[in-house]
Amino acid sequence: ADSSVKTADKRKEAEAAVCVGREDDIKQSRRITASVNDREIVVFYHEEKFYAMDCRCYHAGGPLHLGEIEDIGGHLCIICPWHMYKITLATGEGLYQAINPTEPSAAPKWRSKGVKQRTHEVTVDNGSVYVTLSDLSVSLDSDYYAEKYKKFGSSFR
Ligand code: FES
Repeated sequence: ADSSVKTADKRKEAEAAVCVGREDDIKQSRRITASVNDREIVVFYHEEKFYAMDCRCYHAGGPLHLGEIEDIGGHLCIICPWHMYKITLATGEGLYQAINPTEPSAAPKWRSKGVKQRTHEVTVDNGSVYVTLSDLSVSLDSDYYAEKYKKFGSSFR
């Protein structure tokens, strides 16, 4: 019974949309960091779309808000500034370059390792941008660093 209560709590926490800033400001700055229910997240505005994800890279906690955005094999990715991991903005999938050992001369292809970084829902209402945390009862790799950095308080700027 305990674990179901916990799950319900986490779901409730995840459902609340939190205002993270003004639409115009974020469009201009292209990215912001914010704390949503004590979780450090980053919001990007890129090619006329908003994206939100956990700010700390799933690999070792690198600051994704300081990374570059690039098109990797047709997927928009944030490149972590620490070890250059590539994470899709839309789904939080980690990409890796697969080399076929039987065909070493072929160009390596980008493949997905699956969802590693938690992404969150962004909504715009009346000139304000809101982030709703995704379902935290399903754990993802980036949760470890989200929890770890929570304890330090806000480490931004
Ligand atoms: Fe992001 Fe290593 S911490 S790539």
